Amino acid sequence: MTDTQIIKGKVKTVFTTSEPDKVLIQYEDKVTAGNGRKVDFPIGKGRVCMQISEFLFKKLEDRGIRTHYISTIPERIMSCKKVDIVPIEVVVRNVAAGSLCRQTYIEEGSSLNPPLVEFYLKDDLKDDPLLTTDRMERMGYTEMLYSELRSSAIKVNDILADIFDRIELTLVDFKLEYGHDSNGNLCLADELSPDSMRLWKRGTSESCDKDLFRKDKGDIVEVYNQIFDKLNNLP
Ligand code: TMP
Repeated sequence: MTDTQIIKGKVKTVFTTSEPDKVLIQYEDKVTAGNGRKVDFPIGKGRVCMQISEFLFKKLEDRGIRTHYISTIPERIMSCKKVDIVPIEVVVRNVAAGSLCRQTYIEEGSSLNPPLVEFYLKDDLKDDPLLTTDRMERMGYTEMLYSELRSSAIKVNDILADIFDRIELTLVDFKLEYGHDSNGNLCLADELSPDSMRLWKRGTSESCDKDLFRKDKGDIVEVYNQIFDKLNNLP
């Protein structure tokens, strides 16, 4: 690839192109957990994460959610709008799991209805701390921005939860990242794959997501491919 590399993330690499408003994002055969403390390089992982992301970005676009997705280039490069990333990670939780249970007395598996929407600072050096809206305001983020993030994340949750329910998976929680495009529009960015969500087999707490890697409980590429096949075969 002759493009200029601009950012090497933990599991994706972003390249500039000759078009200033477009970037190429290469999904790497790499998985990390615990803020990069645990790492592996499973063959085929980049490709399947890109395929699932493409599928979900297209579904969201069809439902009126603006995303950075443009197209894909075989076999693990996504062409995307260049966006200025908002350094806030938006986490939506439908069922209690993960850090919510470690940090509170809420029991794993408890249903959260209405869903919990949380904001975290996107900064690995600070270990992505939980933010409050007061802190966000002090950091210069307006109420308009976090209200927009919140309402978009709730819509995304409704759409994704319904899609996963149709393949008998419960969308437990997930993380979203947003950015502003060159026209100042807020776009959903980053990726949408089982790397950034928890998916449990419906009616159980059996993981079909990156927890398999975090807890050494299975082959993520095999499970992610099964998920993609099921999504792709939806009527
Ligand atoms: P948590 O339980 O560790 O807070 O994570 C909640 C969800 O958000 C889970 O599906 C994993 C996802 N997530 C990421 O993908 N990246 C992150 O940096 C964080 C904090 C969460």
